[in-house]
Amino acid sequence: MNAVEIKEFSTWYGKGEILHNIDLSFRNNSITAVIGPSGCGKTTLLRSINRTAELESGFKSQGDIQVFDNSIYQVKDVSAVRRQVGMVYQTPAVLPLSIRENVLFGPRYYGEKGRSRLDSIVEKQLTRVALWEEVKDRLNRPADKLSGGQKQRLAMARVLAIEPQVLLLDEPCSSLDPASTGLIEELLQKLAAELSIIIVTHNLYQARRIAGETVFLLDGSLVEKGLTSEIFSSPADERTRGFVSGLYG
Ligand SMILES: Nc1ncnc2c1ncn2[C@@H]1O[C@H](COP(=O)(O)OP(=O)(O)O)[C@@H](O)[C@H]1O
Ligand SMILES: [Mg+2]
Repeated sequence: MNAVEIKEFSTWYGKGEILHNIDLSFRNNSITAVIGPSGCGKTTLLRSINRTAELESGFKSQGDIQVFDNSIYQVKDVSAVRRQVGMVYQTPAVLPLSIRENVLFGPRYYGEKGRSRLDSIVEKQLTRVALWEEVKDRLNRPADKLSGGQKQRLAMARVLAIEPQVLLLDEPCSSLDPASTGLIEELLQKLAAELSIIIVTHNLYQARRIAGETVFLLDGSLVEKGLTSEIFSSPADERTRGFVSGLYG
């Protein structure tokens, strides 16, 4: 089943067209990598899927995006889309709150309350990102004291706590060391059993390690999408071959 379907989708910032007539689908319960040179529109594509791109001034789009068969442009309440489609950014974004309150930020906003209910959300979400054992004795300490890798896992827990069905990650490991990166890759592989994961990465090895399918974007156009093994070993398009062999990027 497809979690996300992008149909004849184009975007502009002001007069400049950024994404050109994209047709693309992303499967459920799997990890898809999006690769392409800097500036080709990867972030714009991700931020279109949870309708945060339109927060930028001058942003316009045309075409449609469906999440589990519902058009995200037909919903009455944009926040429902942003709840269904969560996003993790390149720079680990923790709120200036305790570790516990970072996890509870979304659930509280959506009305969760009661000490034991909240405790169980904190334990469940921190366990899901393999952070519980590391922080369970200091849940009330400020989150900004954590290491970079821990912060990124906490940022993931905060997003996962609102139970999205699609998880978008925009170069989530680019500021992390190899050990933290490996931990996050392991987590994503586990999470793919229950979610649809779309990850932008400039690390081609990362795409090869974790993504079932890979999408190659160039200058705002989709060049090709295929099984990751095929994109890297026998791509259909010469431009893909050039990119994955490191000729440009
Ligand atoms: N808020 C914005 N206003 C105007 N242009 C933007 C904005 N954000 C991105 N762009 C432009 O859109 C293009 C695609 O950017 P982006 O989606 O960030 O690419 P990538 O993530 O692949 O590096 C770039 O040319 C960038 O300069
Ligand atoms: Mg980007």
